[in-house]
Amino acid sequence: MVIYGLRTHYVITMGYRVECIRCGKRFSGDEIIYTCDRCSGLLDIKYDYSGIEAERIVKAKGRGVWKYIALLPFDVENTVPITINEGDTPLYRCHRLGESIGVNLWVKHEGLNPTGSFKDRGMTVGVTKAMELGVRGVACASTGNTSASLAIFAAKAGLPCYVMLPAGKVAMGKVAQAMMHGAKVFSLMGNFDDALRVVRTLCDEEHLYLLNSVNPYRLEGQKTIAFEIAEQLNWEIPDRVVLPVGNAGNISAIYKGFIELEKLGITNTVPKMTGIQAERAQPVVKAFKEGREDIIPEPHPETIASAIRIGNPVNAMKALRAIYDSGGIAESVTDDEITDAQLQLARLEGIGVEPASAASIAGLRKLCNMGVIEPDERVVCITTGHLLKDPERAIAICEPPYEVPADIESVRSILHETGSGERREEVIYA
Ligand code: F0G
Repeated sequence: MVIYGLRTHYVITMGYRVECIRCGKRFSGDEIIYTCDRCSGLLDIKYDYSGIEAERIVKAKGRGVWKYIALLPFDVENTVPITINEGDTPLYRCHRLGESIGVNLWVKHEGLNPTGSFKDRGMTVGVTKAMELGVRGVACASTGNTSASLAIFAAKAGLPCYVMLPAGKVAMGKVAQAMMHGAKVFSLMGNFDDALRVVRTLCDEEHLYLLNSVNPYRLEGQKTIAFEIAEQLNWEIPDRVVLPVGNAGNISAIYKGFIELEKLGITNTVPKMTGIQAERAQPVVKAFKEGREDIIPEPHPETIASAIRIGNPVNAMKALRAIYDSGGIAESVTDDEITDAQLQLARLEGIGVEPASAASIAGLRKLCNMGVIEPDERVVCITTGHLLKDPERAIAICEPPYEVPADIESVRSILHETGSGERREEVIYA
């Protein structure tokens, strides 16, 4: 059902509206618009929460993102989701790593989504919206995971897909996915921020649907991470959620999810949202430390965590609000700290992640060492992408295999020389 307002242009579609977070201007759910046409502010999807019963979330049946359709911008009865079973990822209790850091630790492993990253949660919603709008094709810029996810959902939907990647800066597993699933892949001689600038114009001029996280529908899918964490902890909210920040969409989305649970009366608090960036790509951290609400773009972001090599994050304003309003913090970590954390997760907990994801653990350790995070806090770290996304990096930081003749004596001699297969924890600093 669509109810058109008489005097204003705004339309309530299926119980939600699109609203500018800066000036409050409202837009209809069937307009293709990504930022406010009056003030360029970011857009947010708003619901009439008084019309949503808590039970529709707490007792929802099914699994994954679509289980929470009562808080998604779709008609519950008539929507046919483009889905490959995204979401419903495990929340691991991590005693060994938690003890080594000195905190109560859980890890929400988003690398176990179907395409190997949390992006699937946003893409199932974004591509379903694209189909509803009847667009002729979809496009994005990406440090890799967004492009892989979009390619796969576009393939499922039968939509043409165009992805812009920063040349030579995207991990191999991600490029392979985008290519394999039939996206038209462009390698641009610039960084992610350049690619995003190009694709935004391309979408406007060629009438393609933009599915970067500036698109507010993407974030609606990603906020379900918060619903799952709460549900997995029996609707008890952790003290803190720690995650890597790149284009700053995910931290904004997860915060929104926790706020919505509070609005529905399901919970009565929100976690301290804690964003981690790499030392040489940290515009959000700098803005936070200077108490600003906007960022100063960094022209030459660098880090081995290629997923978060971003100097001009589009969702910075939403992310900073999430951090300030929740009493959280933003901190940076070095590439070496990221690498150590990647090894610790792999070897203490059996959780294989790509470098950007390990930034959350590196940041947690740093903040605990600084005394900012207390030992009795209950902390959830989000690991955003799977180890196999970036196999080159994994091979680069691990001991190479022992090359030996195919006979038992050669193998046995190496085994004894190297301490009969004892755990290689010496590489892990604590
Ligand atoms: N971790 C991983 C593995 C990512 O791929 C990204 C973003 C982030 C963290 C940061 O999330 O942008 O919401 O703050 N990757 C985007 C991409 C930019 O193109 O795949 P964010």
